[in-house]
Amino acid sequence: MKYLVTSATGDLAFQSVQFLLTLVNKNDVVVTVRDLEKAEKLKVLGVEIRQADYLDESSLVEAFTGVSRVLFISSGDLSSRARQHRNVVNALISANVQFVAYTSAPKADQSTAIVAPDHKLTEELIMASGLNYAFLRNNWYLENEGMLFDAIEQKQPFVYVTGSGRAGWAKKSDYAEAAARILAGVVPSKLIYELGGQPLTYPELADILQGNREEKIALIPESAEEYAEQLKSAGLPEEVIGFIIGIQKDIKNGQLDVPSDDLEVVLGRPLTELTI
Ligand SMILES: NC(=O)c1ccc[n+]([C@@H]2O[C@H](COP(=O)([O-])OP(=O)(O)OC[C@H]3O[C@@H](n4cnc5c(N)ncnc54)[C@H](OP(=O)(O)O)[C@@H]3O)[C@@H](O)[C@H]2O)c1
Repeated sequence: MKYLVTSATGDLAFQSVQFLLTLVNKNDVVVTVRDLEKAEKLKVLGVEIRQADYLDESSLVEAFTGVSRVLFISSGDLSSRARQHRNVVNALISANVQFVAYTSAPKADQSTAIVAPDHKLTEELIMASGLNYAFLRNNWYLENEGMLFDAIEQKQPFVYVTGSGRAGWAKKSDYAEAAARILAGVVPSKLIYELGGQPLTYPELADILQGNREEKIALIPESAEEYAEQLKSAGLPEEVIGFIIGIQKDIKNGQLDVPSDDLEVVLGRPLTELTI
């Protein structure tokens, strides 16, 4: 049986391939990349590499041919993601793939989060496709919080605009390992996995990350409007500011506050500790 991971030059996908190789035979692992020139690190792993671009349905059909189970990593190009994902689902159907695991977003079917509409659409397309599926509704990567890491390391105050809103941060490697385990079929199957850590506020997250450092940083609550002004003064483009603020508002409004032990159950162990 062939297992395929899409867009394997990306971070989550690459880590998933590494975990997959501990679970299934290397000869059964296939990856797609949109740019073969960026695939050096995959060549080193010795997996079969096929070229496929989410914008090019025929490349996807060809790449998926002969494959049984696919880990479909959501695209990092948000500008045309709905179109790209439609192509991927069409190609999965055309290539007669048996099972797809799709990396979605927390409560994608009901969420009002800024990133949710593409995920909701993709889940709907997959459900309508007749494919066997699992939705891997990944909560937030800890690695998104580089600004908080820097503040802690440089002992600088950290501004947050999410009030008492919580997100379910977990290490990207835990999401990657869970994805590989679901793709390999080594965990009890479920249609929807709400994957993430225990929901935390920013002050709670900062407290955990600071560990036993003696000097604790100041956590400064601000309004989204004040923060947007600061980002503007720092020269960030309007659309980037809109996206950042949108995500912060989503956290404030509880869109990422999804308590679940699915990640721990899939991993069969406690989550990796949250550290910088
Ligand atoms: N839960 C979270 O906190 C969170 C945060 C950020 C993103 N995400 C989502 O999770 C996904 C995986 O995260 P990540 O950290 O691995 O992101 P990443 O390293 O930025 O990877 C994004 C991937 O999307 C691929 N891609 C973009 N356009 C494509 C196209 N037309 N055809 C095929 N592939 C295309 C990129 O390919 P190239 O390598 O060729 O550029 C790259 O492999 C992201 O793409 C995004 O949808 C989740």
